[in-house]
Amino acid sequence: MAALRVAVANQKGGTGKTTLAVNLAAGLHRRGATVLLDADPQGSACHWSQIGSTADDLPPIERLAEGDPGDGIRDAGSGKRYVLVDCPPHLQSATLRRVMEAVDVVLIPVQPSPLDLWASVDMAEAIRNTRERNPRLRAYMVLNQIDPRNALSREMHQALAEFDVPVLKNGLTRRAAFRSAALDGGSVYRLGNRGASAVRDIEAIITEVLSK
Ligand SMILES: Nc1ncnc2c1ncn2[C@@H]1O[C@H](COP(=O)(O)OP(=O)(O)OP(=O)(O)O)[C@@H](O)[C@H]1O
Ligand SMILES: [Mg+2]
Repeated sequence: MAALRVAVANQKGGTGKTTLAVNLAAGLHRRGATVLLDADPQGSACHWSQIGSTADDLPPIERLAEGDPGDGIRDAGSGKRYVLVDCPPHLQSATLRRVMEAVDVVLIPVQPSPLDLWASVDMAEAIRNTRERNPRLRAYMVLNQIDPRNALSREMHQALAEFDVPVLKNGLTRRAAFRSAALDGGSVYRLGNRGASAVRDIEAIITEVLSK
């Protein structure tokens, strides 16, 4: 069976790409052989695995060579069930296009504010262009840093409606567990009770993506 390839991308910095990619990779690794590819020249995901050299909850993490990332993504899938790609912010459009041409799903983490959403409008255009060469590409926004005390504002719902990229029903709440897991160099799956709510967030996203 071919591997499911999922990229986590947004040209805006700090929206939670690495957090989402690392924790999804941990959750998927529990279901089947997974590899996490780090396409960020800063190497955040690789750095993550170095601090957590004992983190047995994470799949192997590999640096994706710059140049043509498409080959690396396709090769990494052999013998694997899931391939995750953590993308850098400010992806040059050629690189972003090659990553998106080589994957099945793109997840775009965005903060639940209309300004952040509008800042991701270039992603929607990049996805439209990529579909000319990869017509089966599926793309979803994933709300991150959701504050449960604030229901999404009316402006947010209007902003979402203007986008032609659908938003997953499930997102990530703002939780200390996501930061603690990063400090530990692992995922929220190894935090026990402290991570239980964060694990539920990740599991709900995985279930939703796999059922589509
Ligand atoms: N749901 C969350 N709850 C709490 N903290 C979070 C959450 N998501 C992300 N963070 C924190 O926000 C910061 C930015 O997250 P992260 O590094 O994952 O973003 P990024 O999009 O990968 O950034 P870059 O564009 O620099 O690669 C980190 O300190 C991370 O721990
Ligand atoms: Mg990152």
